[in-house]
Amino acid sequence: MTHGRRPPGRTLHPMCGIVGYVGGQSALDVVLAGLRRLEYRGYDSAGVAVLADGGLAAAKKAGKLANLEKELAGRPLPSGATGIGHTRWATHGGPTDANAHPHLDNPGRVAVVHNGIIENFAALRAELAERGHALESETDTEVVAHLLSEVFSSCGDLAESMRQVCRRLEGAFTLVAVHADEPDVVVGARRNSPLVVGVGDGENFLASDVAAFIAHTREAIELGQDQVVELRRDRVTVTGFDGTPADDAVRAYHVDWDASAAEKGGYDYFMLKEIAEQPRAVADTLLGRIDAAGSLTLDEVRIPASVLREVDKVVIVACGTAYHAGMIAKYAIEHWTRIPCETELASEFRYRDPILDQRTLVIAISQSGETMDTLMALRHAREQGANVLAICNTNGSTIPRESDAVLYTHAGPEVAVASTKAFLTQLVACYLVALYLGQVRGTKWGDEVGSVVRELSEIAGEVEEVLETMEPVRELARSLADKNTVLFLGRHVGYPVALEGALKLKELAYMHAEGFAAGELKHGPIALIEDDLPVVVVVPSPRGRSVLHDKIVSNIQEIRARGARTIVIAERGDEAVRPYADHLIEVPPTPVLLQPLVATVPLQVFACELATARGNEVDQPRNLAKSVTVE
Ligand code: AGP
Repeated sequence: MTHGRRPPGRTLHPMCGIVGYVGGQSALDVVLAGLRRLEYRGYDSAGVAVLADGGLAAAKKAGKLANLEKELAGRPLPSGATGIGHTRWATHGGPTDANAHPHLDNPGRVAVVHNGIIENFAALRAELAERGHALESETDTEVVAHLLSEVFSSCGDLAESMRQVCRRLEGAFTLVAVHADEPDVVVGARRNSPLVVGVGDGENFLASDVAAFIAHTREAIELGQDQVVELRRDRVTVTGFDGTPADDAVRAYHVDWDASAAEKGGYDYFMLKEIAEQPRAVADTLLGRIDAAGSLTLDEVRIPASVLREVDKVVIVACGTAYHAGMIAKYAIEHWTRIPCETELASEFRYRDPILDQRTLVIAISQSGETMDTLMALRHAREQGANVLAICNTNGSTIPRESDAVLYTHAGPEVAVASTKAFLTQLVACYLVALYLGQVRGTKWGDEVGSVVRELSEIAGEVEEVLETMEPVRELARSLADKNTVLFLGRHVGYPVALEGALKLKELAYMHAEGFAAGELKHGPIALIEDDLPVVVVVPSPRGRSVLHDKIVSNIQEIRARGARTIVIAERGDEAVRPYADHLIEVPPTPVLLQPLVATVPLQVFACELATARGNEVDQPRNLAKSVTVE
């Protein structure tokens, strides 16, 4: 089993589950069984389409697969040997029957399922409407069904139609489609989000990951970037979007995991998979929210600019990891907008009788969208006349539904209780909101917003860089398995990072772990320092605010002089800290405010590895729930 690192040939799980089949079995049975193998990751609607009797039949329902199966029991689909299916994690458009996949063209001859985000869907949708197409859902996916239908009617070949349509799409997408005029064909296309072929004997499979088909075959072909695959019972044809045959680029491999491991993408735990998905999650959360000129296009934040211009206070309410994201957001909002910003524990917020009015913007941050403390806080805020903006990872959940507006993170389903990729995407969303407020209020100008956004856009690559250098962190964590206490220090945005690192260790390793503002050491915590006590110190960039950097170097010297074992997270090339670091973990240089996006990752890996070394259950730690729906 691969522990921690991305196993060879592995692709990372996308947000939605996709299954396609052509062969001698009942397509409906194979597709539903495949979707069941994918449902562990969380989704909010499901659907299938089958080709039979010269036509196409489809069924789709909001909610879990059981809802779809109940629908199928009442209205069975005709049996056919070709079909596709989908479990949706909503991004554009809430979890409703209409928004569920597959999406069909108006004549009902084409069905398509999709994972990812089509950035230019609004323009395509307008174009189709002008040509008389009637689109019924709010999704970006539906435009593909109509475009495929148009192109197929002139070229008569689904694979070619897919190639032509893909050349018009912008964004990240995996598409799988069928057409009633080609009953023995399933066609898929991949840009960014993974798509894997399962090669059978007289049958072939397509899926967003191997878990969907390894009950039938372990011979897989992973599609590369910008490739289209045509599946027939006895033939798999792969080309580029331009039609160039891709035989030499095709990546065939044998899947040697069992079904359970396949669900975790070959990782030991969902948490490891989700840590590894962070670059993609960060990139997806930025996707479609920055225009060509580098300005923010957060149209989904449905609070009028006129209201945002009048805001004279921002209050952020959240719990746990989301609260730490809110603490970092405070620095960004105040720096970029000059609006006073408070960050409050949601469980404390309404009991302190806060001062709120219609000029207060309350931001409620929540991965699950169901945390009762945060929900009660936002209800209180709205009763006081404040405007509430939710930052949430779960489309259609209670917190966004009860807020005035929502900015969704696109981390995809987060299964592990300990939040990782959701945290990084909450940070990205908070940065976007801060920049958007600055842009709307004129305190930040296009070019300045643009330069920060460009730096943000590079962060996904820098997170990837950090992930590739984590082996020493894992070794260090294992060496500390018998310790009972670890302290975490940070300054500025490094302080909430220290708190987050301590929370991860509490949650996972069940150790006493405490985070402090490094400047507080002399006011008490330094009394805790004793020989060989591990202390993690998050050091700010030496570039932006050197006085802060020099002070924390002094803090490191002070604790080391008293016997601490110093574990220092610092920017690559920061030579000033090297003499005082018993363990130096280097991260790529970033702008001061963005450093949490790279500095947090080693702390996630550290906590996960230490928990494993102590024999703890990682994905479902004791006493904890993924969503705390009681106060
Ligand atoms: C984080 O690792 C914890 N699972 C917990 O602190 C969590 O962040 C908190 O309960 C808030 O959950 P939410 O983001 O779903 O509201």
